[in-house]
Amino acid sequence: MKLRLGVLISGRGSNLQALIDACRDPGFPAEVALVISNKADAAGLARATAAGIPTLVLKPKDYADKPAHEAAMTSALENAGIGLVCLAGFMRLLTGGFVTHWHDRLINIHPSLLPAFPGIDTHARAIAAGVRFHGCTVHYVREVMDEGPIIVQAAVPVLPGDTPDTLADRVLVQEHTAYPLAVRLIGEGRVRVEGMVAHIEGLRAPAPVICPPPNS
Ligand code: GRF
Repeated sequence: MKLRLGVLISGRGSNLQALIDACRDPGFPAEVALVISNKADAAGLARATAAGIPTLVLKPKDYADKPAHEAAMTSALENAGIGLVCLAGFMRLLTGGFVTHWHDRLINIHPSLLPAFPGIDTHARAIAAGVRFHGCTVHYVREVMDEGPIIVQAAVPVLPGDTPDTLADRVLVQEHTAYPLAVRLIGEGRVRVEGMVAHIEGLRAPAPVICPPPNS
């Protein structure tokens, strides 16, 4: 049986789209079973609908407090038989209660090579720091924001003349490969979490890559 994914979004939904596209492959071990947005105008909702996936808009302001909103999300996810919750541009901090409930069944994609640049404005901060590599990270969610066992990372070079937008575009292309890969590894039962480290079975080590300084 396929791993049932619940995807939480707030906006554009390009990572949701990457997951939907990956799930079209009959050999992919997961399927997107439910999409929840905290915003009624999230563009990603139309992507789900176009793919025939049920959607739900759960607005925080319709609930007494954050735990009540999260409890509504949890019941919807559980009623849909969700085995893995994927945050994909979900722009709300989750409480410890939600994170604990979904422990090791809740993953996120973040646009930096964590633990570098947690939080917002990651691309501008990477350029300002002069790093040679930037990228994205798919990780299990823990209580501390943008912290948790790393499943997949993808790196891109920072190029001369990069702006936060050009760098974001380069990273986003990799996000769309990294997120489905992480889900595939989990769906195939190849990820074992031990403390803060996620071990992956049967992966060959990649060759090292060195980036020259941007102005050479
Ligand atoms: C992505 O850059 C993701 O890494 C971050 O939020 C953005 C969401 O983009 N968490 P999209 O909605 O998936 O297009």
